[in-house]
Amino acid sequence: MKVYEKDQKVKVTFKVNGKEVETEVEPRRLLVHVLRDLGFTGVHIGCDTSNCGACTVLLNGKSVKSCTLLAVEADNSEITTIEGLAKDGKLHPVQEAFWDKHALQCGYCTPGMIMQSVWLLKENPNPTEEEIREGISGNLCRCTGYQNIVEAIKTAAEKLRLDQPLYQRQ
Ligand code: FES
Ligand code: FES
Repeated sequence: MKVYEKDQKVKVTFKVNGKEVETEVEPRRLLVHVLRDLGFTGVHIGCDTSNCGACTVLLNGKSVKSCTLLAVEADNSEITTIEGLAKDGKLHPVQEAFWDKHALQCGYCTPGMIMQSVWLLKENPNPTEEEIREGISGNLCRCTGYQNIVEAIKTAAEKLRLDQPLYQRQ
């Protein structure tokens, strides 16, 4: 186990959205704050008790609430934030579907909701409505009433399945 001095800064390295990032942090510093300080301000903070999911990012391919992880714990990991989803200005199918289906209003929950949806569709490419609702139950939204978010995820699922080679489709 590593032991740190109080106030000691520690060097951490992540790959964020495919780019190496190196920074120095106090061991108590939460990943969400470090990501935001590094400029990834699409990662939001909506609570202080790990309920809301506005801070959701992918860490080594898994969805995590970055407010409930220390930056030092994420040392040497690969992180994807909402800023890393579009490729050369082309929206990811989940982003496109949120636009098409009006799945956001204030937009504050949206980055976390989209990252969670991306993870969900990787885990389960053809989810039922119930599985979608269960899959995003760690992500709260004050504005939409969720219905259009569910529609968007269904639409994105279809699009992603069609983008797969025939032999891999479910
Ligand atoms: S900020 Fe609410 S769960 Fe992370
Ligand atoms: S769109 Fe406002 S909280 Fe979800």
